[in-house]
Amino acid sequence: MAEIVIDHVTKRFGDLAAVDNIDMTFSDGEVACLLGPSGCGKTTLMRILAGLEQPTSGRVLFGGKDVTDLPPRKRNVGMVFQYPVMYPTLSVAENLALPMKYDRALDQSERQRRVDEVLDVLDMRPMARAFIEDLDIGSRQKVAIGRAVARQSEIVLFDEPTTNMGVAAKLQLIHAFKRVTRRLRQTIVYVTHDQTEAMTLADKIALMKAGKILQYDAPHVLYSEPSTAFGGWFMGNPGMNFIPATLQPDGIHAAILAGPIAAPAHLPKGEITIGIRPERVTMSGQAVTGSVPGTLVDQAVGIAGRYLTTVRVGGATVKVNTVGAPPADLGGTVNLMVPHARVMLYVDGVRVAG
Ligand SMILES: Nc1ncnc2c1ncn2[C@@H]1O[C@H](COP(=O)(O)OP(=O)(O)OP(=O)(O)O)[C@@H](O)[C@H]1O
Ligand SMILES: [Mg+2]
Repeated sequence: MAEIVIDHVTKRFGDLAAVDNIDMTFSDGEVACLLGPSGCGKTTLMRILAGLEQPTSGRVLFGGKDVTDLPPRKRNVGMVFQYPVMYPTLSVAENLALPMKYDRALDQSERQRRVDEVLDVLDMRPMARAFIEDLDIGSRQKVAIGRAVARQSEIVLFDEPTTNMGVAAKLQLIHAFKRVTRRLRQTIVYVTHDQTEAMTLADKIALMKAGKILQYDAPHVLYSEPSTAFGGWFMGNPGMNFIPATLQPDGIHAAILAGPIAAPAHLPKGEITIGIRPERVTMSGQAVTGSVPGTLVDQAVGIAGRYLTTVRVGGATVKVNTVGAPPADLGGTVNLMVPHARVMLYVDGVRVAG
C-alpha cells in the first residue's frame, strides 16, 4: 500500500506560495501526471514528496504513514530528475544495480533478478554490458528510468525526465515506461508540461496552476470536461473556444448558438462564457436547422486530413477543427453547428454546467 496523501501542503519562498494549500491523494499503483505551465510549482511539490524540501505547513503521508519529517533516504522512493546523474564508465547493468548496492535486505541473486527483469521490460538486454558513455541520450534516459524502478520502491517520482530528448526517443521511452509500470505495481508521479506526454502516460492527470491543483481526473475527463477555463485553454491544440454569453429569461445565449441553452438553477453572478472544443464544431456550406452563419476569416491549415479554420460569428471568433477542407474560402460564409451537449458553461472561469 503506497498511496500518497498530500494533506494541506503549502510551501512559501518569501511572499510566494510555490505550493498553495494542496490537498489531494495519489492512489496506490496509479500513474499520475502532474501537468502545468513553467513555474506553477511542480518541481517544488515533487521535492516535498522526495523529502528534499520541507513544507511550510501541511503533511505528507505514504501508505498512511506520516513521512513529513523523514529525510529522503528514509522515504524509500525512487526518483528521476530532469538531468539524471549517470555513471558513464559503468555498464548499463551496473548502473541499474547501483541503488540496490547498499540494500542489505537484497542478496546478490535477487539484485541480479531485478536487473534482468528491468533489462527485459526496457528491451535493453543486448545493451547490458554497454557503457553509458557509448549510449545515445534516449537510451541513457531509459537506463535512468530503469534504475529508479529497479529497486522496486513503492513510490517513484519523475520530474520531466524527457525534456532534453527528441520526439522519437521520447516516444520510445514512453512505451518502455508504460511496459515497466504495468509490470511493477508502483505508485508513480510523473511531472511534465507536455500535455501529449501526460495524455499518453497517465491514469490520472493533476492539472496545476500557480501552486494549486485545479483538477485531478482521467485524461479524457480533463480534456472533455475541464473544470476551469484555464484547463480548457491549456489542453488541446488549439485549446477550447471561449465565447461570451448572456443570461436571458429563456436561457443562455451566445453568438455561436442558434437557440438558448438551459441555465442551471443557481447560476453564480459573474462573467458568463461558453466553452466548446474546436473539433466539436461542425461546418456546412448551406444553412441548416440549428446552424449559425459566420465568415471564414483565417485560412484553413490542414494537418493529416484535419483543417483548422477561424470563423467570425456576430462579434465572436471561433476556431473550428474539421476532418476535410472547410466548405468556403477566405472571406466566404460558413454555417456553424455547435452541439449543445458538448457546450460547457463557465462563470468567472469556473465550470458551472455542461
Ligand atoms: N529555492 C527557491 N527559492 C525561491 N523561489 C523558488 C525556489 N524554488 C522555486 N522557487 C519559485 O517557486 C515557483 C515554482 O517553481 P518550480 O520550480 O516548482 O516550478 P515548476 O512548475 O517546476 O516549473 P518548470 O516547469 O519551469 O520546471 C517559481 O516561481 C520559482 O521561481
Ligand atoms: Mg520544474
